[in-house]
Parts: sequence; C-alpha cells; structure tokens
Amino acid sequence: MAALLGQGMTPEDHLLDIGCGSLRLGHKAVPFLHPGHYWGTDACLALMRHGRLTELPDPARLPEDHLVEDATFAFPGIPETITLAIAFGVFTHLPHADLATALTNLRRFPNLRATLVTVFLSDAPTATRQPDGVVTHPDRPPYHLPETTVAQTVRNAGFTPTRLPTLLPRGQVLWSAT
Ligand SMILES: C[S@@+](CC[C@H](N)C(=O)[O-])C[C@H]1O[C@@H](n2cnc3c(N)ncnc32)[C@H](O)[C@@H]1O
Repeated sequence: MAALLGQGMTPEDHLLDIGCGSLRLGHKAVPFLHPGHYWGTDACLALMRHGRLTELPDPARLPEDHLVEDATFAFPGIPETITLAIAFGVFTHLPHADLATALTNLRRFPNLRATLVTVFLSDAPTATRQPDGVVTHPDRPPYHLPETTVAQTVRNAGFTPTRLPTLLPRGQVLWSAT
C-alpha cells in the first residue's frame, strides 16, 4: 500500500494486482479503493477466491469476476480503465521472459500511469546471498537479475524504468515502469 500511495494512488484509481495470490495486498487495497476498482490475476483461481471470502472485510466490494485466472500475463478480460498495476513477489519466482511478456502486454492499457514490480538484483553468474540472507540464482527461483537487464526490459516494453529506494522484505528491489 505504501508503494502504491507513493505513486499517488487514490480511491478513484483502478488497480491491477498481478499474481495477487490470496489478497495480501487486496485485503487493504479493496477497502481503500472505490468498490469494483480492484482487479487481480493469478495462476491459481482457487487461491484468489479463497482470499476474497476469508481475507476481505467486505467481499461484496470485490466482484468475483474481478479475480481472473491467468498464468501467461495475457490479462484476459481486464478492462482498459486500469490506471495502476503491481506485481509484488511474482517475477522474483519466474524466468525473466515472463516480466518482458507482462510489460509488453500492459501496453494495451491506455490509462495506465505506473506499474510496480519487485525483483532481486545481482550481476553474479552464480548463487548470491541477498542483504537479509535469501539466496537467489541466475537460472532458478528465486531469480536475480542485473540492474541493467531490468532497466532494458522495461525500456524495451516502451516504459521508463525507475529503481525506487523503498526497502522491501527479503531484499527485493522495487521498480516502477511509467
Ligand atoms: C510469492 S506469491 C506473491 C503473492 C502476492 N503478490 C503477495 O504479495 O502476497 C507469488 C504468486 O504468484 C503466482 N504465480 C506464480 N506463477 C504465476 C504465473 N505464471 N502467472 C500468474 N501468477 C503466478 C502464485 O500463484 C502466487 O500467488
């Protein structure tokens, strides 16, 4: 929430939470946003639906069809109204090509002003211990990437990359694509 508020999120925004899981963000974002302004995608529909019923103070604020099963970052059925997107702790666990695919597919949202993503950073071709102890890898999860690669991938998708100074759990690094 703090990262999104840092991007100027207001209740009028329409948020896409990519890889939203059991609504760890949604249980705060759904009450904050106007009803119906939150959309979530995840590879696991059951996880999202369980989160909706058990984590939200008022599940009626989140229509069930706003939780979309999507394992390929195609964002099927997500409307053009989306203004902000976030993928927290998602691309840390997936091959880098998935980040490129997701960003490229986000280009179709004309009102999108920022996407936030977390990654682990390292130039090392071998396993790396992140500042708080998590060991990341160049070729298996949890993945790390060189900073230059992240920036180039964001640029290749047509966005402007910014590495943000926000401190995140487990040494993840927050980026915005605007
Ligand atoms: C570490 S959890 C983070 C969940 C949530 N963003 C959070 O901060 O609590 C990673 C999530 O990514 C989802 N996921 C994994 N592979 C995916 C894919 N290919 N497409 C969409 N979601 C995926 C998992 O189901 C899981 O919910």
